[in-house]
Amino acid sequence: MPKIVLLEKIHASAVAHLKQQGFTQIVEVPKALSGNELVDTLSGVDAVGLRSNTHLTADVLNHLPHLRTIGCFCIGTNQVDLGAAAALGIPVFNAPFSNTRSVAELVIAQAILLLRRIPEKNARSHRGLWDKSAKGAYEVRNKLLGIVGYGNIGAQVGILAESVGMRVCYYDPESKLPLGNARPMPTLESLLEQADAVTLHVPGGSGTVNLMNRERVQLMKPTAVLINAARGGVVDIDALNQALREGKLAGAALDVYPVEPKSENEEFVSPLRGLENVILTPHIGGSTEEAQDNIGREVADKLARFLKAGTTRSAVNFPEIPHIEKEVQSRILHVHRNEPGVIARMNADFAESGLNIVAQQLQTRGAIGYAITDVDGPISDALMKKLCKEPATIRCHLV
Ligand code: NAI
Repeated sequence: MPKIVLLEKIHASAVAHLKQQGFTQIVEVPKALSGNELVDTLSGVDAVGLRSNTHLTADVLNHLPHLRTIGCFCIGTNQVDLGAAAALGIPVFNAPFSNTRSVAELVIAQAILLLRRIPEKNARSHRGLWDKSAKGAYEVRNKLLGIVGYGNIGAQVGILAESVGMRVCYYDPESKLPLGNARPMPTLESLLEQADAVTLHVPGGSGTVNLMNRERVQLMKPTAVLINAARGGVVDIDALNQALREGKLAGAALDVYPVEPKSENEEFVSPLRGLENVILTPHIGGSTEEAQDNIGREVADKLARFLKAGTTRSAVNFPEIPHIEKEVQSRILHVHRNEPGVIARMNADFAESGLNIVAQQLQTRGAIGYAITDVDGPISDALMKKLCKEPATIRCHLV
């Protein structure tokens, strides 16, 4: 029975799912660990679940020869040395889609609130003012939503937007299947010129830094609003600040910032603080109870499938093999260096032992090869030793 350790107060849905899958040796540690404490806790453990504060460096991983898989119960995987894990034959899983809906719902809410000028009305009411004016307050019905980055979140936003009567267009440099009645735009500029609300759903990184620069912010209609729940670096904040203060943009909602406080004790600093037509939220686009619950189940399921069947579908650092039910006596998971002759030699070893291969899947990724082989008889200790000693073998397990 594999041993599983879940660190950092992972949602209860994870343990529930693992137990449902038949795993009984589960230890929960309600905090992040580091150094010797981390290595001691994970020694002899088959699978570890963590969030963003436990760092599995190459050094830590090298001290954990027993560890077979890692589950990041979050979206990001920076806290794990993915290359080192792959080189050691350890697939790493995360939960890339669990909070898609949460972000999409927030964006629609923000579009509605901004186009109705609710942030300003709210701020004035708090100050004792009674501003009943309809000036500049619009329904979202029939307005054009421009989605920049039509990936998982962008496409989901488009579906929700149409369900409240918006028209949807999008810009993505990759060719994407339009969902519903969404219309691809030939250029980002044409989207910015036409949309009543622009929402950004591009990846972070050097390719999208200041994507919304001064020139592009100026292209937007003065009645339009800008929403950024992607990554902070995507918008030139000074340019946005200027456009808002000069009335060249009706409003904005930001959930992410170029510089974000590292903890709740640090002050949040932004030139946009105090602007009544701006909604500022502390990077909570994906933070809902439902998303946490989904993350718990999604990653626990990936760990369970790997431990029970060797499935590596959607691993972030590893050759991906989809789930295949094990229908014969023995399944061997073989991780090896991606070089010629490994599978031929392994299959010769099976044949020599009188075993018939019923099914075999091989995938490679960079320097790593991964094979799942189902055979129709028991695997002897001698054969297992032989497979493990093969010079290209990184890991070999029986499930
Ligand atoms: P995704 O990878 O599914 O989609 C990104 C899309 O952007 C892709 O279709 C890609 O082709 C497109 N793209 C790349 N460069 C572009 C460019 N220059 N112009 C237009 N489109 C471009 O990503 P997903 O899952 O939809 O996430 C989108 C963003 O949301 C990411 O930055 C992610 O970090 C962020 N996010 C924020 C959360 C929050 O709490 N605020 C929670 C979850 C994700």
